Amino acid sequence: MTDSPECTDCPLDGDRRHFLRTLGVALASLGSLGLVARDADGATIRAMTALLAAPDDRRDEKRYPIPDVDGVSIDRDNGVIIARTAGRVFAFSLACPHQNTALRWNESDRQFQCPKHKSRYREDGAYIQGRATRSMDRLALRRDGAAIVVEIDTLFQQDDHAKEWLAAFVVV
Ligand code: FES
Repeated sequence: MTDSPECTDCPLDGDRRHFLRTLGVALASLGSLGLVARDADGATIRAMTALLAAPDDRRDEKRYPIPDVDGVSIDRDNGVIIARTAGRVFAFSLACPHQNTALRWNESDRQFQCPKHKSRYREDGAYIQGRATRSMDRLALRRDGAAIVVEIDTLFQQDDHAKEWLAAFVVV
């Protein structure tokens, strides 16, 4: 998607900030123990950090390299998941759409899973099962050369922003 409409009424902005604050405190604790590359249950995660901003990037935009192969990476600092699957790249909120728990990626079955109520989602964020009532929330993104630029405050919920949610990916 190249020109993402502004999500001026995204109801989760406040929740998302709270989620990121809470996550930051938890990560600070994990970091002090040297466990940032593992989640609370000890499962390894593929962590990533945002690239340096380009001069014209807005404060709410984060850049990431386009993944070379299919897979999932998580930027916990900004609450962003980047997933490449079947020639498409998606950016998701790390927060479960049910009650904002940080999602996990399970490489063995190639699904996202929520540790709190066990909701499961496909690589493209589509809901499979569990207590959540919608698919994972997608973030607006665009391609800029060899990078993906993600608007971390522009969140599309499948039920409230169906058209934008469906279009929120880039082809690679
Ligand atoms: S918080 Fe994720 S399913 Fe309830």
